[in-house]
Amino acid sequence: MIRAKDSTGLLLIFLLIGPLCVCCQEEEGYQDDDYEYGDDGSDDSQVIDVTKDKADQIAPPYFEESDLRIEAKPGDNVVLNCDARNFQISNAVMWYKSRTIIANGQNPISQRVEAMMNNSILLKNVTPEDADDYYCEILPQRVRQHTALRVGARLSILCDDRDITDRSQTFRQGDHHKLECRTYLPGSTIIKWSFNDLNGKPSPVENQNGVIILDNVDEKNAGDYQCLADDGSRHPPHGTVHIDVQYSPIVSTHRHHVNTERGASAELYCNYRAKPIGRSYFIKDGKTLQLSDKYSIKDSVHNGHNRTTLIVREVTDSDLGEYLCQVENAIGSNEVKVHVSYVPETPQFEDMSVEGNQVTLHWLVRSRQPLSEAMLDYQVTGSLHWSTVSVLQTHRHNSTENIWKITHQLELQRGVWHARVKTKNTHGWSHFSNDYVFEIREGSEIEIDEEADKPELPPDEIVQAGIGLVPRGAASALQQLNLGAILLAALLLRIRL
Ligand SMILES: *[C@@H]1O[C@H](CO)[C@@H](O)[C@H](O)[C@H]1NC(C)=O
Ligand SMILES: *[C@@H]1O[C@H](CO)[C@@H](O)[C@H](O)[C@H]1NC(C)=O
Ligand SMILES: *[C@@H]1O[C@H](CO)[C@@H](O)[C@H](O)[C@H]1NC(C)=O
Repeated sequence: MIRAKDSTGLLLIFLLIGPLCVCCQEEEGYQDDDYEYGDDGSDDSQVIDVTKDKADQIAPPYFEESDLRIEAKPGDNVVLNCDARNFQISNAVMWYKSRTIIANGQNPISQRVEAMMNNSILLKNVTPEDADDYYCEILPQRVRQHTALRVGARLSILCDDRDITDRSQTFRQGDHHKLECRTYLPGSTIIKWSFNDLNGKPSPVENQNGVIILDNVDEKNAGDYQCLADDGSRHPPHGTVHIDVQYSPIVSTHRHHVNTERGASAELYCNYRAKPIGRSYFIKDGKTLQLSDKYSIKDSVHNGHNRTTLIVREVTDSDLGEYLCQVENAIGSNEVKVHVSYVPETPQFEDMSVEGNQVTLHWLVRSRQPLSEAMLDYQVTGSLHWSTVSVLQTHRHNSTENIWKITHQLELQRGVWHARVKTKNTHGWSHFSNDYVFEIREGSEIEIDEEADKPELPPDEIVQAGIGLVPRGAASALQQLNLGAILLAALLLRIRL
């Protein structure tokens, strides 16, 4: 039995790497000009300040954090801070790279560094050689703050040569883009790309030397792309980009033919997805339908798509014919056709069972008017002709829902078979259902496959119709010899009241 596939919502795990982390700490007035003159204060508030400053003078300088990490990419300009609390004018700062002194207060000793007024140092255009353990030391107390600088350990994801690592990007349908994963690691690394679509479903993504070419971008390209540079370490560098795709509406209906009768109402379904959000219209005979006593609109959201339902009231002959549902957004527009008529709707396959060579197939049909006939066509794959069986007797299955159930029983040889049905009511024949394709194997195993995309009856309405299991072993209405007597087919249209 084939059922509508629910797309499983998998939990998306975004791996976020913080951007280049520079600690932004509050500016402290450790070089405050007022400081030295504070002692001269004569009013009360200044006396209090003096007391505070004196207390500060006694307290030694300290760092809120003793170990910092900075990750930089080659070419970045990196500032290493030395942001001590209780820093006094009598204190001095020394900078070291590993154990080598590189700056004495504001005087650089190494040519690599520039010393700054606030005791920070600047490393311009860093290279992997700059990666090291740095520390600044406050004298005379010799308190230290270490900063581990890593250069080039991160990788970059470039989109059309722009760095978009750990960010989002929106593409338009039909665009052409290049995603490239670049690493700056010295050893050999293996670039691995992975992709999860918007539902979190992983799928393979083709890349060459870390480059993904997205040609004619489509909705299916939207999702998360992760690049990992496998350098054999336990924590290989990686990055993610989220790609959104704007696309013109995708419009469909699950009932292309809608059955109704004079004086009754008709419901037309228009299902769509769009980004950015789409607007839907119904059009008949070239005119956009406006809300009125005749027409009303219902909007709803279903598993992964939006639905607009048009309700046509008090149907007369002039309401029959073709309706267009058009959906448009900023990218484009698309439409689907829905036919309203008095003939039965296209039968839809429900399910099947097999016992030995005996196959029981079930279809559902909607028709407000009584069904007078049903016809079954079947053939084995490769044969040129359909075998046809007519069923003359029909009965209504559920009068509230106007749903009919057709059950056919066939005795079939091994092979891959196709079957389709159509039905007739007082106004005429429906279209044939889509071919239903199934395999009869030795030992009554079956393999089911469907040829065309099967439009679904709304599941809620199937449930409401109260269709249960049909008892097996019903008498054969007709037997016929076919294809050189290899085939014995029996069928019947079954009725449940
Ligand atoms: C020191 O000055 C530099 C350059 O103006 C700045 O980038 C840095 O954040 C400052 N450091 C602190 C601790 O304020
Ligand atoms: C359905 O419509 C709502 C607003 O009415 C919108 O937020 C949502 O994105 C739409 N869903 C799709 C799949 O187009
Ligand atoms: C027909 O459908 C209606 C509405 O879903 C339900 O209440 C009723 O029981 C059904 N009748 C039969 C005979 O199954």
